[in-house]
Amino acid sequence: SASVILAPSLLSCDFARLGEELAGLEAAGLSWAHVDVMDGQFVPNISFGLPILAAARRASHLYMDVHLMIEQPERYLADFAAAGADGLTVQVESTRHIHRAVGLIRELGKRAGVTLNPGTPLEMIRPVLADVDLVLVMSVNPGFGGQQFIPASLERVRTLRRWLDELGSSADLQVDGGVTPANAPDLVRAGATHLVAGSAVFAPGAAAGVQAFRDALEV
Ligand code: DX5
Ligand code: ZN
Repeated sequence: SASVILAPSLLSCDFARLGEELAGLEAAGLSWAHVDVMDGQFVPNISFGLPILAAARRASHLYMDVHLMIEQPERYLADFAAAGADGLTVQVESTRHIHRAVGLIRELGKRAGVTLNPGTPLEMIRPVLADVDLVLVMSVNPGFGGQQFIPASLERVRTLRRWLDELGSSADLQVDGGVTPANAPDLVRAGATHLVAGSAVFAPGAAAGVQAFRDALEV
């Protein structure tokens, strides 16, 4: 359906050509970029941080969908907002105060997202579901691109779709990790409105990667 938003994960792009890669995403007709920030503490990898986000902000008009895979994200929400984030998504496992973190993001005037790892019960985010603009279902264990989609994630998407509908929430329902043109239709049928894809977009190159999703989703 035309309403599906594909957010390419910059983690899989060629950082020696970040500006060109962002221009390629815009040329492919995309409107979002997924910005995977990793601190080597919350996840066993270090990706990039504030300077890269600021550079991406200067280089493109894409919506900066920032995924914070960092410990105690409250410490840096204002900095990421100032560096150009449009949306800030925090991992429920990364803070003792998820309700407060969501409130802080809203106070910064940004869209608030919450996400959880494949091993975390969905109930953990239920108390803040009514307060967020985006819910992200991790369909891989965070830290790396190019991993296999975890099949149990599909049922989690369905459950969250039901919970959001019961709330009358218009929050984005996003899926991230191992998303490909092959599983994208099932995810959309399960109720996802936003898909993150890193390797599936950048491995074939943005134009071909995006087209493969368009063909699969008939958008
Ligand atoms: C993993 C990141 C994902 C990842 C997606 O920790 O949050 O956004 O980059 O990459 P693929 O689509 O290759 O699984
Ligand atoms: Zn991500």
